Amino acid sequence: MYKIDLDIKLKDEKKFFIYGSELVQVLLSIVSNSKDAIAEQQNEEGKITIVCEYKPLKDIYRFTVSDNGGSIAADMIKVMFEPYISSKGITGTGLGLYMAKTIIEKHFKGTISSKNIEGGACITVDFPIATKEITISEILP
Ligand SMILES: Nc1ncnc2c1ncn2[C@@H]1O[C@H](COP(=O)(O)OP(=O)(O)O)[C@@H](O)[C@H]1O
Ligand SMILES: [Mg+2]
Repeated sequence: MYKIDLDIKLKDEKKFFIYGSELVQVLLSIVSNSKDAIAEQQNEEGKITIVCEYKPLKDIYRFTVSDNGGSIAADMIKVMFEPYISSKGITGTGLGLYMAKTIIEKHFKGTISSKNIEGGACITVDFPIATKEITISEILP
């Protein structure tokens, strides 16, 4: 059993059209990895912070998820968004971040990146919110 403090900082309540369930899937995959990292560290003061903000200069919306579950392993940092890459043995699928990257880059025309911060990891998701038409063939596999 472990307790994790989840802090959601809603800096900008911007309205935009988006595939809502896909965005939720992305955020859940990221948060789930933070939870795994905190659990693996047996950190009893687990903390996950999600900052939600609008960046007017780039006209993008940004989610930043940071945790205190220890750093991302050096051999993972370059490949963690590739399919079937996992440090969790049989309990990992290695697909969470790959799916997240696919959704953000292909469907949202945005970017997703990771970095280590003091005591943990930080994942940043950026996507443009200008309304633009997208055809169904663009999101089908
Ligand atoms: N918050 C995090 N802290 C440390 N390592 C992470 C974090 N998020 C992802 N990783 C690393 O990236 C790998 C890939 O993540 P993911 O694609 O979700 O696959 P899985 O969770 O099934 O291993 C993880 O196995 C882990 O090594
Ligand atoms: Mg995962």
